[in-house]
Amino acid sequence: MKKIGILTSGGDAPGMNAAIRAAVRCGIDRGMEVYGIQRGYEGLLDGDIKLMEWHSVGDILQRGGTILRTARSERFMEDKWVEHAAKMLNTFGIEGLIVVGGDGSFRGGIELSKKGVPVMGVPGTIDNDLAYTDYTIGFDTAVNTILGLITNIRDTSSSHQRTTIIEVMGRRCGDLALYSGLGGGADVILVPEVESDINEVCVRVLQGQSSGKAHSLIVKAEGFKVDTAELAKILEEMTGREARAVVPGYIQRGGGPSQADRTLATLTAAKAVELLYDDSDSKAIGVSNGKIIAMDLEESLNVKAEFKRDLYDIANLLGKGK
Ligand code: F6P
Repeated sequence: MKKIGILTSGGDAPGMNAAIRAAVRCGIDRGMEVYGIQRGYEGLLDGDIKLMEWHSVGDILQRGGTILRTARSERFMEDKWVEHAAKMLNTFGIEGLIVVGGDGSFRGGIELSKKGVPVMGVPGTIDNDLAYTDYTIGFDTAVNTILGLITNIRDTSSSHQRTTIIEVMGRRCGDLALYSGLGGGADVILVPEVESDINEVCVRVLQGQSSGKAHSLIVKAEGFKVDTAELAKILEEMTGREARAVVPGYIQRGGGPSQADRTLATLTAAKAVELLYDDSDSKAIGVSNGKIIAMDLEESLNVKAEFKRDLYDIANLLGKGK
């Protein structure tokens, strides 16, 4: 394969630029032409496509976001637009595509591959909600961003002897809450994967108080069933201690990528180029036990997520007030 395209799609993630840089330079090194597609599938449909040079991806490795911009595409839900996208790639002579994004982006890639375009999925989302890979690009950086916020919140929360609830991103997958809660020493971690009784949460906060804890910290995934502001009100009423809700929102999606994300992005994008060069059919590329893996793109979305209950249990144990 001689001509390939790359696009970034869905929620942006730190490390996407590292993936773009690796794809462009590994492709050029193999004598391929690599086309950058702006704004995800929307840009593909609009023909917003241009040939990338070695220097086009200079000085981006360390930057969050994506120089190719991203978008969510309603149009791509319709077959006629998927057909149009395949024709657009053909018009440019582009024979294969690298899609850097999450599960929605992979689903678009599957539809495109059914039109005869080989698509390589590179897992780019802070949520870590693609079960076929141990980690997604952006997750490590986002957890470290949240840990920095927790450090700041701890200061003010203990000065005011408050209960603080920090709501982090992650609609169906609670990994951002789980890992930042464990690393941040949360008293309570609330994730969509575990049923938690609000009364038990109140008891844990009261236990913390009576064991002399200056404050309580709860890390909650946005996908956990209870509204964060509502939970703060309940806690305040039940414990008699001031409670505050903090929602960092899109701050979690930005910032320079960590070493881990730069490496993961580089290696998965390089693999995507190699597979396209070798005329492979569509694959999802990821990491498993430290090794870069590639599996059928469609199958990758059927892999069942396994909640890391061991991490959850140890975090719960260590967060208890004695
Ligand atoms: O999928 C990544 C993500 O950041 C989710 O964690 C979050 O719920 C969602 O994107 C927000 O989507 P948008 O950027 O379209 O508001």
